[in-house]
Amino acid sequence: MDFTGPLRDALLAADFTYDRVAKAIGQEAHRALGRNETLPALRRTTSGGPLDSLVRLFLLQTPVSREAADRALPGLVDQLCNAGLLEQSVSEVAARMDCRPYATSEAGEDRDLWVVSDLTPGLDGAPVAVGRDHVLGISSASTSLAQLTMREPVGSALDLGTGCGVQALHLATHADRVVATDVNTRALWMTRLNAELNGVDVDVRDGSFFEPVAGERFDLISTNPPFVISPATGERLVYRDSGLPGDRVVEHIVRTGPDHLTDGGWLQVLANWAIADGTPWDERIGSWLREDCDALVVQRETLDPAAYVELWLKDSGHHGGPDYAQRYDTWLSWLEETGVEGIGFGWINVRLGGGGRHELIEWPYDVEQPIGPAIHAWGTAVTDLRALTDDALVASTLRAREDVQQETVGRPGAEDPEAIVLRQQRGFRRARTADTIEAAFVGACDGDLSVGQLFGALGQLTDTDADQLRTTYLPVVRELLGEGFLEVGAAGS
Ligand SMILES: C[S@@+](CC[C@H](N)C(=O)[O-])C[C@H]1O[C@@H](n2cnc3c(N)ncnc32)[C@H](O)[C@@H]1O
Repeated sequence: MDFTGPLRDALLAADFTYDRVAKAIGQEAHRALGRNETLPALRRTTSGGPLDSLVRLFLLQTPVSREAADRALPGLVDQLCNAGLLEQSVSEVAARMDCRPYATSEAGEDRDLWVVSDLTPGLDGAPVAVGRDHVLGISSASTSLAQLTMREPVGSALDLGTGCGVQALHLATHADRVVATDVNTRALWMTRLNAELNGVDVDVRDGSFFEPVAGERFDLISTNPPFVISPATGERLVYRDSGLPGDRVVEHIVRTGPDHLTDGGWLQVLANWAIADGTPWDERIGSWLREDCDALVVQRETLDPAAYVELWLKDSGHHGGPDYAQRYDTWLSWLEETGVEGIGFGWINVRLGGGGRHELIEWPYDVEQPIGPAIHAWGTAVTDLRALTDDALVASTLRAREDVQQETVGRPGAEDPEAIVLRQQRGFRRARTADTIEAAFVGACDGDLSVGQLFGALGQLTDTDADQLRTTYLPVVRELLGEGFLEVGAAGS
């Protein structure tokens, strides 16, 4: 697209970056915009200068005069109208697509990007109207997946269901080769545009699920698929509806995705899943996981069916519409008939190879973001533990992770605590209750004495046979390593 270079120059010249925009409109207006309210920002962008005009055009969806548009986008207005980003009336120019700065920070490096997508629906309480081929901008789901995705350098990465290409832009910072796929031709066009605008190389391909990458393997697949759980009978909004009933789309990706991974490669999926037929959620999702893969699945949140249907009917602008009750009823009836009792939201992380360790946890609590490094650390711990025989573990020295704190709970003045909790301050911020021996063991893990020596010392202190301690606590030590409370390594290593 021959306008991308000049567009980039114009955005740069106007200083249209995340920080500059935030500063120009101020914190209050920035927060208001986060609530889809434009008025406070309109009051702060009256200069007619390039930065104010770009903010008004794209972020506030407010027309500007032709002269102001020409000052902000010199020599580009007609071209951008032809390309469908802008439209022009007699004397004014308005945006038909969104173009906004996006600040990222990867491997300690801050970067400014621009992302073109469809306009944000529903500003200032306007009716939410989205077309079937609507291309989402940077949503909270996009940000969640970006934070979930591991950022280790890789040879190849796949962004499946790329939308406006935001994940592909992230992947390009640490993958030598990035492929992005989608079934929406408008999304593919925007991804190409965004790749060019940001000077990034992305191989953009048209097609459903893994069809466009048949026979290919990747070191990393990151996907935020159209996972909304619906009867798949009504009209389909391609950004959220896969066309497959229920959570079949997620099941399909989890079951077949590993065929497109290199050995040791990761598939990371942001997903919704049905909790159905009285089957525990982890049993159902666990049945999708393959024995040739390790997997860490985290259920972050659950919604009951009614709340779920309301969420997505609001998302598509049907709340309050003439057929709202009928749509609500149809969807809810279908969920009931198919035995769906709730819907889980969470993260599915699958690594090809290894020994089929599947850990499915419910963790609705606050975690350190980005969480990607903690998922990677889990994979490393699983590999290390697998290689460690019990004898080797007994001979090794361990350290309590720097951020692990001990909390004691009990009545004021009581001599002994009722409970001891070990709590991480970083990563997943996991917590586990520990008995006094476990807590003392973790406390003594400073990379000096071996596990066997610590069992010996604790045996003496508590008058317990060291072999018995080993039998009881070696599995606990494995758990502590797997959950990241402990790390293998001598002091100073
Ligand atoms: C929730 S959006 C995710 C967009 C983007 N990856 C992000 O993180 O914001 C899902 C995307 O999947 C695409 N999609 C829908 N059905 C698909 C299919 N069968 N195969 C591949 N992509 C599909 C949609 O067009 C949409 O762009």
